[in-house]
Amino acid sequence: MDLYEYQARDLFEAHGVPVLAGIVAYTPEEAKAAAEKIGGVVVVKAQVKVGGRGKAGGVKVAKTADEAFEHASNILGMDIKGHTVNKVMIAQGADIAEEFYFSVLLDRANRNYLAMCSVEGGMEIEQLAEERPEALARVAVDPLVGIDADKAAEIVAEAGFPEELRGKVAETLQTLWTVFKEEDATLVEVNPLVKTGAGDIVALDGKVSLDDNASEVRHPAHEELEDKGAADPLESKAKALGLNYVKLDGEIGIIGNGAGLVMSTLDVVAYAGENHGDVKPANFLDIGGGASAEVMANGLDVILNDPQVKSVFVNVFGGITACDAVANGIVGALNTLGDAANKPLVVRLDGNNVEEGRAILAEANHPLVTLAATMDEGADKAAELANSAK
Ligand SMILES: Nc1ncnc2c1ncn2[C@@H]1O[C@H](COP(=O)(O)OP(=O)(O)O)[C@@H](O)[C@H]1O
Ligand SMILES: [Mg+2]
Repeated sequence: MDLYEYQARDLFEAHGVPVLAGIVAYTPEEAKAAAEKIGGVVVVKAQVKVGGRGKAGGVKVAKTADEAFEHASNILGMDIKGHTVNKVMIAQGADIAEEFYFSVLLDRANRNYLAMCSVEGGMEIEQLAEERPEALARVAVDPLVGIDADKAAEIVAEAGFPEELRGKVAETLQTLWTVFKEEDATLVEVNPLVKTGAGDIVALDGKVSLDDNASEVRHPAHEELEDKGAADPLESKAKALGLNYVKLDGEIGIIGNGAGLVMSTLDVVAYAGENHGDVKPANFLDIGGGASAEVMANGLDVILNDPQVKSVFVNVFGGITACDAVANGIVGALNTLGDAANKPLVVRLDGNNVEEGRAILAEANHPLVTLAATMDEGADKAAELANSAK
């Protein structure tokens, strides 16, 4: 999960990283009130999860609270690289003497952590890395040691900080490391990290990505940081139901058991779709091992509520949960859903007790259900049905 800048700022503050005052505002009135509360020069900053807000006109200095109102009116509703701005942060204005760059991230390729640091901050780091790679220090960080005093000293030296700044910057890097470690982040980036006119080091813009796998178990508080409004409503619903669901862009709803089977089903359906008006899978949904009627009903409920879906392909391999149980699950789900089940279903069952399973579906004789003998046949039928309903 990526955080908004204001959330990163709050996390930084909680861990003792030097930051300036910042208050979120959803309306120009709130922006004005926040500016009055902070006092003096403020900066109105668009809160979107994308970089380069400054260049896009989403970061504006306001000398008065009325000016903050004006800027907020302009920035709220603005589109920045496809992200609509619906909140701003009113940040205390910094007297910037110099801008630096720092990040620490999970370096998957090297199975390690990596710190990057430069005395040339502010600009886009991708550009710096490409044009002047020598200006960007890259220092491996041992996960068992982290950024301790020695590592921090190494990073600031590599980055080329002048002697008199090294101590202060190194101290901030160690604090940023505690944010990374204690919050189970995969990225903590500060751009710019600034030196103020008074000689203080301050984190002016923070970007933090948290490891969702850790959040669920180790950081219940992280749930509050989730941007529920921005998530896909079907994905949110599936998540609330405990389903492993990813929304895709096609017309054929997919339900399978086991991630591997579902992924190959997506491939087979996409391939079959080429013969039927280029219809494609509408989602990934793995209902897992114990495909009870309830789980099947929840899965169908989510998929049938996707207005893009024109047909559904249920592709289940009976293992621990045998095919007769799955078939009962499907019949039960259709009964539970009643009129809400309104799109054709193609069902392919195989594995344990397959004959019994097919017999149950044949006997139920539900008008929406078509049985398929093989995965290819099922995919083809589902694609044909989706195409004719387009
Ligand atoms: N609180 C602040 N006070 C003064 N200047 C700021 C402040 N926040 C940002 N800026 C200036 O605006 C630039 C861009 O802001 P930043 O927060 O880094 O957004 P982005 O990286 O999305 O463009 C910074 O490099 C800095 O020069
Ligand atoms: Mg920035």
